[in-house]
Amino acid sequence: MLQLAGRMGRAKPSAIMAVAEKAKKLKAAGRDIISFSIGVPNFLPGEHVYQAARDALAKDSGQYGSNRGADALLDAFLKHMEDLGLTGYTRANLSTGIGAKHVLYSLAEALLDEGDTIAFPAPYWTTYVDIAEIVNAKILELPCPASQDYKLTVAQLDAALATKPKVFLFNNPSNPTGMVYTKEEIIALAEVLVKYPETWIITDDIYNRMLFDGLEYYNFVQARPELRERTVFVDSLSKTYGMPGWRVGFMAGPEAIAQAVTTLNSNHITNIPEVTTAAAIAALSGPQDVTEAKNVEFQGKRDLVMAALAEIPGVVCPRPQGAFYVFPDISVAFGKSHDGKVIGNDIDFCNALLEAKGVACVPGSAFGEPRALRISYTCPTPQLAPGMQRIQEFFAELK
Ligand SMILES: Cc1ncc(COP(=O)(O)O)c(C=O)c1O
Repeated sequence: MLQLAGRMGRAKPSAIMAVAEKAKKLKAAGRDIISFSIGVPNFLPGEHVYQAARDALAKDSGQYGSNRGADALLDAFLKHMEDLGLTGYTRANLSTGIGAKHVLYSLAEALLDEGDTIAFPAPYWTTYVDIAEIVNAKILELPCPASQDYKLTVAQLDAALATKPKVFLFNNPSNPTGMVYTKEEIIALAEVLVKYPETWIITDDIYNRMLFDGLEYYNFVQARPELRERTVFVDSLSKTYGMPGWRVGFMAGPEAIAQAVTTLNSNHITNIPEVTTAAAIAALSGPQDVTEAKNVEFQGKRDLVMAALAEIPGVVCPRPQGAFYVFPDISVAFGKSHDGKVIGNDIDFCNALLEAKGVACVPGSAFGEPRALRISYTCPTPQLAPGMQRIQEFFAELK
């Protein structure tokens, strides 16, 4: 019998999408559903972004473009990096992709042979596992439970790197936890990284503009500039500019890696379309007021969610300081039942919560932490407090 390639046995559809699909079905059936499930920013980019796209459309904008990315796009991204404090890069250090997800997939193809190890902290963004499995890399998970604020410790990193993984993948601010490493924490981890020159470093920092409480973005290469020769910074327009479907992602790193990703682009996608490129340049170079206003809004929403969770006995939740996620440890509910349904694990919990209260969250096991669930709080403001109240009621009804 004809078979699919072996790698397809390892490729799994997104667990996050499965929850979203179920919530959609219930909604279509007339249920009042509040969705805390998908990690979408839920706002639209500024008018100047649409105008740039319209202007590009009106030109001859349907031709093949650069495999690396248009020069003007690369320059806009270099400027964005400089604003973040990442200076000294040139176009040759950059490449682009159809979203950060695609860039990460290209990096996996560029850096990992079959059987090589990729290490990353857990909780992790689900796709890291999926991408590693497709390229048949070994995964070394570094468990960072709520008791250590979901953050990687120096000792953990040291022990992991001593095993010489080919790639260390780091995500800051974090999806799913919303945690942000302080400058001091980044410096301490960077001290460890310099000791292990055999490991490539990828920092997936796509939430770098979504920081609260006055925190500032900080990266390993700022802490230890010598790490630049083996560190790849990954970024995206999806979350910062409310442009998830426009699909623009970037990488900045050693020239050889940027060239490898560009070569893969030449074989996979050819280029980011010109209209999208024009919109992306406008987003990066134009007024930043939408992004800034959203940050203020998200910080307020974070506060509301945290205040509601604090009222639930037994729920533990490190305080997120970025992105738009909260990741409470809800394992206090395990072994109890709701409406006669036993809650054995995070998946039972999320299913029962969705069915009983119409609130959709993603089980933590999708992110490598089965004691938790993820609340993505970008829903319209009027839905947030009622959604959290329903979660409180659900807990109160557990027996
Ligand atoms: C940590 C992290 N990295 C990368 C991505 C992918 O972003 P993009 O839409 O640019 O593919 C996401 C999206 O949810 C994410 O949370």
